[in-house]
Amino acid sequence: MTDASVSLPLAPPAGQHARVLGLGAYRPERVVTNAEICQHIDSSDEWIRQRSGIAERRFAGPDESLIDMSVTASLTAIDRAGIDVGQVDAVLVATITHPYQTPAAAPMLADRLGIPSPAAFDISAACAGYCYGIGLANDMVRSGSARHVLVVGAEKLSDFTDPADRGSAFIFGDGAGAAVVGPSQTPGIGATTWGSDGKHWDKIAQREPWTELREAMEAPGRPDGIHWPSIGMQGQAVFRWAVYSMAPVARKILADSQVSTEQLAAFVPHQANLRITDAMVKELRLPGHVAVARDITTTGNTSAASIPLAMTRMLEERPELSGGIALQLGFGAGLAYAGQVVVLP
Ligand code: UT7
Repeated sequence: MTDASVSLPLAPPAGQHARVLGLGAYRPERVVTNAEICQHIDSSDEWIRQRSGIAERRFAGPDESLIDMSVTASLTAIDRAGIDVGQVDAVLVATITHPYQTPAAAPMLADRLGIPSPAAFDISAACAGYCYGIGLANDMVRSGSARHVLVVGAEKLSDFTDPADRGSAFIFGDGAGAAVVGPSQTPGIGATTWGSDGKHWDKIAQREPWTELREAMEAPGRPDGIHWPSIGMQGQAVFRWAVYSMAPVARKILADSQVSTEQLAAFVPHQANLRITDAMVKELRLPGHVAVARDITTTGNTSAASIPLAMTRMLEERPELSGGIALQLGFGAGLAYAGQVVVLP
């Protein structure tokens, strides 16, 4: 039994409120049209636009890494937060496409940014990863375990997409988004609602584990069937889950922070499919004044990067939204989800 009379001599330092102090984004230069995607799959520009809302996406260059993209997004976020790189004391990278099993992308990014010795780790929660990161950063600043946390969502999905897979080749894109979470006089990040449904883990997944690739490579005579284990998706099942299960999650996020839809300035859901976004807007009966992120049209689905990319663009195009309340919600492989309301920087 725990003896409650025994306590540590020193309590951890008390924390304070937190908010997003600055955002940044990086989109690779190369625009990939639906026509280019259709060179490898039996599809059409019209079908892709109608079913997903995507007109084009960006692919990183062959020598452009996830870390390269993250550096640019992070420097913008740090600059806009009005702090020095040296003031960042924790780095969280949400990604599923960092090509090293170990080490994590976060310490590599911290090194490139010149942050001396931050806490640094990756978050593997796919399209929900950025919102997991914002939730953790909020808790870290509030508890006092960190003062400024850099949260990055970055993906180079073109490395892990099968260009010949009709079910996923047109969906994914590359990019990076970053946020600095730091201390605030007033609450700027609401309670996080998060969860997962692991029995549906196979609905979006790397098709084979690395160990199978190794077995195939080491088999006598290197069999012909050897191939790169890219990400596969049962699109329709994920679509249904997102449309029917995420609206109640969004309602819970609002209820837990006592924010009404009338009080919202913006809705920034994960950019999975324009039809999913539109269905959620309808289901939540969002008032007409709420700005809705539809960045997927020119960016594609960039998994963990999609929310910070969309939010950064929204604020660049509509700076008057700054100071308003945004509802953000990520969902995808796992099936994992997370979201919260944030005051826009
Ligand atoms: O970010 C992680 C979370 N991911 C998501 O949230 C993605 C969720 N899913 C989706 O966005 C959609 O399911 C897709 C955009 C991937 C697919 O759209 P859909 O409306 O669910 O298509 P479907 O799989 O139900 O297929 C409808 C029809 C089928 O033809 P029939 O049986 O009606 O004749 C397919 O064979 O469209 C056909 N089809 C295609 N046609 C042209 C399937 N893929 C393609 C294609 N091009 N690429």
